[in-house]
Amino acid sequence: MKVLIATDKPFAKVAVDGIRKEVEEAGFELALLEKYSAKQQLLDAVVDADAIIIRSDIVDAEVIAAAKQLKVVVRAGAGYDNVDLEAATAAGVCVMNTPGQNANAVAELVFGLLIYMLRNNFNGTSGTELKGKKIGIHAYGNVGRNVARIAKGFGMEVLAYDMYCKDEAIRAEGVEPTCSVKMLYQSCDVVSVHIPATKDTKQSINAELLNLLPKGAVMINTARKEVIHEADMMAFMEARPDFKYATDITPDNHAEMLEKFAGRYFSTAKKMGAQTAEANINAGIAAAKQIVAFVNDADDCCRVNKK
Ligand code: 3PG
Repeated sequence: MKVLIATDKPFAKVAVDGIRKEVEEAGFELALLEKYSAKQQLLDAVVDADAIIIRSDIVDAEVIAAAKQLKVVVRAGAGYDNVDLEAATAAGVCVMNTPGQNANAVAELVFGLLIYMLRNNFNGTSGTELKGKKIGIHAYGNVGRNVARIAKGFGMEVLAYDMYCKDEAIRAEGVEPTCSVKMLYQSCDVVSVHIPATKDTKQSINAELLNLLPKGAVMINTARKEVIHEADMMAFMEARPDFKYATDITPDNHAEMLEKFAGRYFSTAKKMGAQTAEANINAGIAAAKQIVAFVNDADDCCRVNKK
């Protein structure tokens, strides 16, 4: 039984060591492909893999077809928009994620980005504080919940909108649910985006929503670039010099955004929300344990594709 870690953006070494321990204690073999520059390297590496642990690595129909022995793919993280679920199902491959395991790391980065923007990129000029401001959490999943917890520590008023989460469940955590996503955008000084990239959410953060944001608003995106309508964002930033946008996922129009809106637009060099030793350990070891449980006990608890 061969388990392949295929991570273009590698885990911390301590996480790889932890995964190796889990895999080898189960009597399986571990292979490692990191920082690959060409898709062919991935296609070659998956040929004899029974299980694969990935991050944002693209596992499309071609990769699945090349992996003749593949039984299970675990996305060590939350979003699985990088995996072709239909191709996996057609090939009899189980796809899982590791929900919640990197959520705190992403949530902490939200506040790193937020303070960086509110304190004017630490350029020495007078900025603003978080205390007393309203933060709107757009999708109240594992990351959103962690954002809420941290926001309360800063003395922020916390609002959330999630079409799949009951109002009572949000309210029970001391967070105010809004009746619509529009209401969230029009009510908050800060919006933190946590929606997954699906066919329904792609480009859904568009002019209609952005135009509702109050004066001086800040948006932080640690979710996916695809959920933003980039042309609308560009036009909104042009029309609203009071608005600031920081993202952990470099948009396609990054160079133009940077040139036009330096100081109030920021993108990390590489998606790094989940890039902490703790998150790598949590998600990586959970992925290894899920593979062992799947192979030994047919446990597919975190399965995200159809059988
Ligand atoms: C996730 O979906 O878990 C996060 O976006 C982190 O992605 P990464 O593992 O590629 O850093």
